[in-house]
Amino acid sequence: MTDPKLPIVVSGMRPTGRLHLGHLHGAIANWVRLQEITRAHFFSADWHALTTSYHETDKLKQAEFEMFVDFLAAGIDPAKTVLFIQSQVKEHAELFLLLGMITPIGWLERSPSYKEMREQITDRDLALYGFLGYPVLMAADIILYKATMVPVGADQVTHLELTREIARKFNFHYGEVFPEPKPLLTEAAKVVGTDGRKMSKSYGNAIELGEAAETTTKKVMGAVTDPARKLRKDPGNPDLCGIYYLHRIYSTAETQGWVNENCRTAGIGCVDCKKKLLERLVPDQERLREAREKLLSRPDYVRDVVRDGTARARAEAERTMEQVRIAMHLDQNL
Ligand code: TRP
Ligand code: SF4
Repeated sequence: MTDPKLPIVVSGMRPTGRLHLGHLHGAIANWVRLQEITRAHFFSADWHALTTSYHETDKLKQAEFEMFVDFLAAGIDPAKTVLFIQSQVKEHAELFLLLGMITPIGWLERSPSYKEMREQITDRDLALYGFLGYPVLMAADIILYKATMVPVGADQVTHLELTREIARKFNFHYGEVFPEPKPLLTEAAKVVGTDGRKMSKSYGNAIELGEAAETTTKKVMGAVTDPARKLRKDPGNPDLCGIYYLHRIYSTAETQGWVNENCRTAGIGCVDCKKKLLERLVPDQERLREAREKLLSRPDYVRDVVRDGTARARAEAERTMEQVRIAMHLDQNL
């Protein structure tokens, strides 16, 4: 695990509270696999959360606790992964500041996700320095651990592009300190919410990780399917149906074949199809629910895990920052 030849992986998630099946299959399941074959670092990007939620900082800690419980329940193993909180490793802020000195504003203003968010979020003022600097902080998060691989969703790839450019610019000015990290775009399983849109807490269409059998069942039974299947006798197209995406994650190849064929020929109804999904989904949700409950009954264990991880992260970060300060001639007090 600490083999220096292993790839170094860093990824973060903003603490938004309970995770849902989109987070689980879009990111965490991949993290769980990666921790076996890399030196993995996963953290709560609480400072990043502030870039858009600076007005509700009182909810951050609880959201963070819930998120770490979900990480652990889903199989992140603190013996294999460094789990930590961004704001508790101050070196992120120091490196962010230094990288800010060499990051052209144009690179940030041109970022497509920046432009998109500025257009979409209209209920708050986002003409903010911190928000513009989001990718600079992200670059600091990543290169602080000399990461070589960063598992991210497709929406984050341009941010990673910027990270590479910033790292390159740093190395050009101050000497080779940082490797250029590559995005790891494992094709994440697509997860659609109960209304057919992308699963998201803010859409109210999410099934939470480890949600109880009854509500999981209720949500699945009430979920929209291929809109073409208005009546039982109308054939459907599984590729247009969120239930089928869940089958692809949870069901056997045989069941997937059964759905694929019988949806298109109206050989089964959506109720049959959903019940078949629940045969697999509910036990897995129960397993996660039990794991969560165990962790919730030991909050001090969860806190200890994160504190230990944060101490390990800090030690690594401090080592990098010593090199950075020397490289930039900032290591001495006169
Ligand atoms: N921006 C990422 C997201 O919204 C979260 C994040 C912050 C991150 N720092 C990171 C991801 C560093 C990977 C590496 O999902
Ligand atoms: Fe979706 Fe299954 Fe209904 Fe087809 S039969 S539309 S895959 S729920």
